[in-house]
Amino acid sequence: MAIKRSSDSPDPQQPRKKNLAKQLNYEVTLLSPQANTQETEHNEAKIRPQKLVDYIGQKKLKGILNMAIAAAKSRADPLDHLLLYGPPGLGKTTISLILAAEMGVDCKITSAPALERPRDITGLLVSLKPGDIIFIDEIHRLNRMTEELLYPAMEDFRLDVTIGKGQTAKTRSIPLPPFTLVGATTKAGALSSPLRDRFGIIQRLRFYELDELTLIVKRTAEILNTSISETGAIEIARRSRGTPRIANRLLRRVRDYVQVEKAKTITEDLAATAMNLFDVDAQGLDWTDRLVLNTIIKQFNGGPAGLEAIAAATGEDRKTIEEVYEPYLLQNGYLSRTHRGRTVTAKTYRHLGYDAPEPKQTQIELL
Ligand code: ADE
Repeated sequence: MAIKRSSDSPDPQQPRKKNLAKQLNYEVTLLSPQANTQETEHNEAKIRPQKLVDYIGQKKLKGILNMAIAAAKSRADPLDHLLLYGPPGLGKTTISLILAAEMGVDCKITSAPALERPRDITGLLVSLKPGDIIFIDEIHRLNRMTEELLYPAMEDFRLDVTIGKGQTAKTRSIPLPPFTLVGATTKAGALSSPLRDRFGIIQRLRFYELDELTLIVKRTAEILNTSISETGAIEIARRSRGTPRIANRLLRRVRDYVQVEKAKTITEDLAATAMNLFDVDAQGLDWTDRLVLNTIIKQFNGGPAGLEAIAAATGEDRKTIEEVYEPYLLQNGYLSRTHRGRTVTAKTYRHLGYDAPEPKQTQIELL
C-alpha cells in the first residue's frame, strides 16, 4: 500500500478547489459563447506563425518541408500529400496553414468526424482550386466510404461517383484540380495501409525542447503586448509538457493573473504562483494527469491496469487518456505500458509524494 507524504502538489482525489475567479476574488463577466469563440479565434490567428522561418522547433520537419516547397514550386506542381502524426497541440494545423501561405494557395480545414456522408467529401473536393490544400484532422477516423472516395482523388485527381441504384447504377469519373491532402492524426498506426501508402511525405511531430518552448512563449508574449522576463518565460515553458498549445494557454492564464495582481511583468515567481493556482504543478502535470497516476497507485496498486479500467475508475474518456494524456506521461517516464496494461514508475511515486513501493516479488520467488 502506498503511503502519501505531504506534498505541495494538489491531490486530484480531493474535491477540486473552488472556482478560480472566486479564488482570485474578481468579478467574472460572462461573454456569449459566440463572442468567446470569435475572440479566441482572433487571438489564435494572431499568434500562429505565418511563415516557415517564423516557426520555432521541429527542425527536421522544417528542412523536409522547405525542400518539398522549393521542388513543387520549381515544377509548378502541388505539394505531395503529407501525413503528420503525433500528440495534439504540437502544430499540425499551423504547419498546414504555413504550407498554404508559402505555396500561395487556400487551405480548407476539416476533420474526419465532419466527413460523415459521401457528399461531405465530394462537396469539398469539387470546390478546390488548383494547388489548394485540404487539411483533415483525426484522419484515422474516416469512414470506409469517404476513404474509398479519397483513393482515386489523391492518386489521380479523380472523383469516382456512382449515379443511380441497383442494376442501372453507373460510375462516372469527374476530374479534379491537382491538390494536396494534409492528414493529421495522433495515431499513425490506426490508419489503413492503403490510405497511409498514398501519402508522399509522412512525418512525426515531436514534443518541443525547453529552449524552443521558451522562445515560443516570448514570441507570443510580444504579439500579445505582454512583458515577460526570461525566467518567467522559462517557468511557463517548463510546465508546458513539451506542447506549444499548452505554453500559449498557460501564458494567457498567467497574463490574466498578473493583470489582476496589477504587476507589470510576468516574473518567474508570479508565473509559478499563478500556475500553482491553476493546478499545474512544477513538472507541468495537471489535475487530470495526477488523477490518472493517483488512481493507478491507489486503486490498482501501481499497475498494471488496463486502459478501460483506468477510464472507468477516473471517469475520463478512454480515448482522451490514450491520445491526450498518456503520450507525455509515457515519454517522460511517469508511466510504462506493456500488453498487461499501464504501470506507474518510481519517478511517479516520488513526484506525487509517496514512499517508493516495495519491489514486487515474482511468482517464482513467492513459491
Ligand atoms: N506558436 C505555436 N507554435 C509555434 C511554433 N512552433 N513556433 C512559433 N510560434 C508558435
